[in-house]
Amino acid sequence: MRKRLRRTLAEVLSKDLSKVYNSFDIVGDIAIIKLPPNATENEAQIIAKTIMGIHKNVKTILRQTSPVAGDFRLRRLIHVAGENKTSTIHREFGCLFMVDLAKCYFSPRLSHERMRIATLVEPNEAVVNMFAGVGCFSIIIAKHSKATKVFSIDVNAAAVQLMQENVRLNRVYDKVIPLLGDAQEIIKSRLQQVADRVLMPLPEKALTYLPYAISALKASGGWIHYYDFEHATKTENPAEKTRRKIVSTLDSLGINFEVPFVRVVRSTGPNWFQLAADIHIT
Ligand SMILES: C[S@@+](CC[C@H](N)C(=O)[O-])C[C@H]1O[C@@H](n2cnc3c(N)ncnc32)[C@H](O)[C@@H]1O
Repeated sequence: MRKRLRRTLAEVLSKDLSKVYNSFDIVGDIAIIKLPPNATENEAQIIAKTIMGIHKNVKTILRQTSPVAGDFRLRRLIHVAGENKTSTIHREFGCLFMVDLAKCYFSPRLSHERMRIATLVEPNEAVVNMFAGVGCFSIIIAKHSKATKVFSIDVNAAAVQLMQENVRLNRVYDKVIPLLGDAQEIIKSRLQQVADRVLMPLPEKALTYLPYAISALKASGGWIHYYDFEHATKTENPAEKTRRKIVSTLDSLGINFEVPFVRVVRSTGPNWFQLAADIHIT
């Protein structure tokens, strides 16, 4: 599909703009495109028509006009073509996620990572997801592992409301527990030493919230899935940079730990990477 889109766009657009085939996401029946700021409305319409002509399931095209930002990790979106809406249902590994792209964060690019974590979860584990959004990591874990509970925190009320809908849609009522509030506060007041595994899918806050993730783990220890953004030039290794950051923070806290796995999840810009690290607190 991407090849066909690339060919078609190359025929009708300048070289710069035709690169959009690389940078659009499809969430449910909505496509989100990113264009250079100088792209005209006419060019946006041509791209929208081309995408809708090739991806017949796409009913709406939105143009992202700002980076993901703020505590809720939202982006500005402008309607370009098709139905004027920001809500949709996205399907991933047999799970359904109701999302509203104007009110909460969602990225289909993390689907492989969500499944990777679900396959690590062992029977009867209790999991805390500190930054759960509409519940995608939590629901994939609930559906694809034998975890007993996945406590799923988010500070955005709209995301937690959608998470509750998604718990119903996927029938994981007794497993995924949506909790509204700041992860630090909720862990301090309600989730001390309860978890075998803690997820921290918010690179911007992961380092400062690491002590709270540790306090959510059982006294016997457990796993922390830590996410990071890292800048690395061609001669640097982003995974090593993230590992060093984790090691120096945990050493300063006097914690016994290992970091057996760090990987680049995706590239987020020139020389910028998103990384996932599995930390074993022993
Ligand atoms: C990058 S999103 C990840 C969402 C989800 N895990 C996913 O993969 O789609 C980070 C989420 O953390 C939430 N968040 C930000 N600060 C928070 C805090 N202090 N406590 C709890 N949630 C927070 C945001 O509202 C957002 O939904």
